[in-house]
Amino acid sequence: MQSCSIHHCVLFFLTLTFTTAPVSAAVCPALAKLHQPVILPCENDCSSEAKWTLESNRSVVFARCDQTSCSSLKKEYEISHDQYLKGDLSLTITAADYSKRNTYSCECGINDISTVRLRIEIQMNPGEDLILDLSVPEPVKVIYKSRDSADGEQICTVTQRSLQCKAEYTHRTSLSHPELILRDVQPSDSGSYTIRDLKNNEDIRVYTVSVAGTSQCDV
Ligand SMILES: *[C@@H]1O[C@H](CO)[C@@H](O)[C@H](O)[C@H]1NC(C)=O
Repeated sequence: MQSCSIHHCVLFFLTLTFTTAPVSAAVCPALAKLHQPVILPCENDCSSEAKWTLESNRSVVFARCDQTSCSSLKKEYEISHDQYLKGDLSLTITAADYSKRNTYSCECGINDISTVRLRIEIQMNPGEDLILDLSVPEPVKVIYKSRDSADGEQICTVTQRSLQCKAEYTHRTSLSHPELILRDVQPSDSGSYTIRDLKNNEDIRVYTVSVAGTSQCDV
């Protein structure tokens, strides 16, 4: 799943070879449960300013620390000055939700220390109904990918308030706009469900679902 363009690989190689600064190129996922706290780990003995930023726009700063104090953009982002002084720059998000599903960068001075992608996992019991919020104008398609398979399969499409699903899903799915409901989930339904906007060919949401305590965290 991890993609690495030649350009990035070369850059990574050069960086590794020619600097002694700590460098991390891998994006590690942090798995959160909806509305639960989650910790984005980052360890570095940082004697200059430390920051958590949005990976795609470094001018969005969620939290920062220096020798005197720490501050954060919003109450939901917590960073501890005591921990910072001990080399622990971990950021706590007090309640994970879909709006916080981003890739976060932990920086010390001008160095990137780590990059953490926040994923939200929905934990369900067998027999429950999975509700997927489509939340965008149609058309969309839903792609299911099981934990062990490399590729996803298209299971449903929604156009003009009508739902078309693969044969094995038709009796278990229904549309109550903007929600698509998959009834009676079983452990074999564990995996990810991607809502893709067909007009812009863009992934709107990825639901990571685990049924009956099987954990998705094997990346
Ligand atoms: C980055 O974030 C800043 C601050 O929120 C914003 O003003 C700016 O437009 C953003 N840049 C991009 C390219 O999105």
